[in-house]
Amino acid sequence: MSQFSYESLAQLRTRQSVKWRAYDADVIPAWVAEMDFTLAEPIAKVLTDAISRSDTGYAWTSDLGVALSAFAQQRWQWSVDPKCVIPVADVLTGVGHVLLALTQPGDSVVITSPVYPPFFTTVTTVAHCEVVDVPLVDVDGRYTFNREAMREAFSRPEVTAFLACSPHNPTGRVFDRDEMSFIAQIAQEFSVLVVSDEIHAPMTHHGYEFIPYLTVAGQTPAVSVISASKAWNIAGLKCAQVVSNSKELYATLHERIPLEVQFGAGHLGVLAAQAAYFEGSLWLDEMLTHLESQKVLLGNLLHEYLPLVQMNDPQASYLAWLDFNGLNLAQDPAAVLLEKGRVALNSGPTFGPTGPGFARLNFATSPEILTRVIEQMAAAVR
Ligand SMILES: Cc1ncc(COP(=O)(O)O)c(C=O)c1O
Repeated sequence: MSQFSYESLAQLRTRQSVKWRAYDADVIPAWVAEMDFTLAEPIAKVLTDAISRSDTGYAWTSDLGVALSAFAQQRWQWSVDPKCVIPVADVLTGVGHVLLALTQPGDSVVITSPVYPPFFTTVTTVAHCEVVDVPLVDVDGRYTFNREAMREAFSRPEVTAFLACSPHNPTGRVFDRDEMSFIAQIAQEFSVLVVSDEIHAPMTHHGYEFIPYLTVAGQTPAVSVISASKAWNIAGLKCAQVVSNSKELYATLHERIPLEVQFGAGHLGVLAAQAAYFEGSLWLDEMLTHLESQKVLLGNLLHEYLPLVQMNDPQASYLAWLDFNGLNLAQDPAAVLLEKGRVALNSGPTFGPTGPGFARLNFATSPEILTRVIEQMAAAVR
C-alpha cells in the first residue's frame, strides 16, 4: 500500500509554517527546507494520539537513542551506542554547543562553502571561533574537497575543528568512502575534531552510499549531529541527536553542555522521531523515489525553459544548486526571480563567497508546482 502523497497548492497555502507565511500570497515558495508532502502515517498517528491524550508535557528521551541506533544499523550498518546519544532541540543547537564545549574561543573551525548559511554564524557567534573557509571544488560537475587546501588548513595550529556538512547542503553531494576516509586521516594526523552535520543523510538517493562519519573516524574525537527532522518534515517539532564516538567524549559533552540544552528536545518531536526511525522507512523510500523523479523533471524543465542555467546532480535530499551565471542576473538571481517571477528561492550569496550568481531551489513538491516554478522563473528572465 502506497503511503506517500503530496499536497495541492490550495492545501499548502493553508499551512502556517515559515515556508508558507514568509512571502506574499501570490509567491510560490521553493526556498527553506520544508517539504510539500503529507505527513508519514506512523508519525501522524503518534502525534494525534498524543494530542488526544492531552499528552503535551516534557519529553521522555530514554528511547530516542535506541530508535536512532536501530535505524542507523538497518540503513547504514552504523552501530550507534544509545548511551552516547544526547538529545537536543535541533541540529544547529547541537552543532553550536558541541563546538562551544570542545573548542577554545579564538580557535579556527574549517567549513566548506558553498554551505548552509548558519554554519558561518554558528562558528562565530555561538562557538566564538573564527571561520576558515576551504571551498569545495567542482570537478566535472561533482563538488568535492580540495584535498591540498584541506590538508593545509588542518595543519594550522589554530584549526581545532572541522564542521562537515554530509550529505552536503546545497550541492547535494554524498561524499564517498574515499573522501570521508581522507577527512578522517587528516583529522587524526593533525588532531582536529570533526563535527558532522548529517541531517540530510536519511534522504540519500537510491544508488548512493552515505558514509556516517563516525564509521570512519577511528579513535579521533568526532561527533555526528543528526535528526529525523528534514527527511520526515518534522523540523517544527524540535528534536535532534548528538552522537559521540566514545563514552569519554559523551561524558565530556554531557558535563559541559548546559542541562537546559540537553532537555531542549520537544516531547512531540521525540515521539515523532521515534516513529520515523522505527516505522518510517517505507514512507521514506517512497518519498525518495518521488524526489528522484522530481530531480529528473527539474533537469528536463531547465533544459527546456532555462538552458543557460546549470544544475548540480544532487545525490541526496531535495535541494538544487543552480548556476545562473550564464544569464547575467548579477550577484543575486533569487532577488530577480522573486521580484519578476514571484517565486522564492534561497539567495546564493548567503552560502558564502562562492555563492554569487547562484540560487538554491527546493524541489520537494509536486510535479505541477515544480513546473509552475520553472515556468515563472523562465518568464522572469525572458
Ligand atoms: C545542513 C543543515 N543543517 C541544519 C539545518 C537546520 O536543522 P535544525 O532545524 O535541526 O537546526 C538544516 C536545515 O535545512 C540544514 O540543511
